[in-house]
Amino acid sequence: MTPAIKIEDIAHVRFSAPDLAGMRAFLEDFGLSCSEQGGRLYGRGGDGRPFLHSTEPGDPAFRALGLRAASLADLETLADSVGVSVEDLTDPGGGKVVRLTDPDGFLVEVVAGQAVEKPSADIEDAPHNNAAARPRQRATVRLSQGPSHVQRLGHCVLNVSDFRVSEKWYKERFGFLTSDEIEMAPGTAMGAFMRCDRGDIPTDHHTLFLAQLPQPPGYMHAAFEVAHLDDLMLGHAHLKARGRDQAWGVGRHIMGSQVFDYWRDPWGHELEHWTDGDLFTAADPPNKMPFQSLLAVQWGTPHPMLAGGNGSD
Ligand SMILES: [Fe+2]
Repeated sequence: MTPAIKIEDIAHVRFSAPDLAGMRAFLEDFGLSCSEQGGRLYGRGGDGRPFLHSTEPGDPAFRALGLRAASLADLETLADSVGVSVEDLTDPGGGKVVRLTDPDGFLVEVVAGQAVEKPSADIEDAPHNNAAARPRQRATVRLSQGPSHVQRLGHCVLNVSDFRVSEKWYKERFGFLTSDEIEMAPGTAMGAFMRCDRGDIPTDHHTLFLAQLPQPPGYMHAAFEVAHLDDLMLGHAHLKARGRDQAWGVGRHIMGSQVFDYWRDPWGHELEHWTDGDLFTAADPPNKMPFQSLLAVQWGTPHPMLAGGNGSD
């Protein structure tokens, strides 16, 4: 199957909320830089992209998943293939957008041509000493307290009503590749971690995870890459000190291998901090993994469903 295009990455997630000031306070605790334009709240990271998180006034809800096409030409190709038009994007950074509706009614916005600024430079990680190598000599570790430094959006997880239908829809249009398919029992898939097909350019183990859990279709979480492990732990302490609502973490996942830390915004939408994830190219084959691996950790806090607790430390 040749996809209409191969998307380059995830671009943004959109929400609505009744209190933009309340959302802004949370996002700033989470480590996004916020601004308002045209009555909407925008959160950006250090990667120079114009926005990663957008909130419009309204009842609390997930509104859209944004994906990034590699070029405006790809956006035209996608628009032609599905018979819709390319529109102007009226958010910070401008650009163009193709709006599609997935089989469960999720709005998918494919964007290209946004203005990009220089990435921030304040994310350097000090050399780490371990038993095998001691590169940090005659120098201390002195970290600044405060929120994590969110760099970019890494992935989104959606619960869908029929995994195979949604998998086909997303793969045909955007060229996603399966990294790990999750099975409830051998031969019975309940979802898959999927990554972008960028040829031999290493890309995140997952950009989209489609799950088919026994609950109505809906947003599960969006995950933001922070600067490094110390930055994630400092952000964890900051969110905790601010009394924010912790969902699960800290721990290291199995699929994707990233260190994770999940929090909820004031309306219960989960956002993840992560760092140190796996990267694969198009040459790496898909795997099948059992459902238990989804909730198990390599270290850290077990998932609340396994732990019988709230998943926080
Ligand atoms: Fe995640």
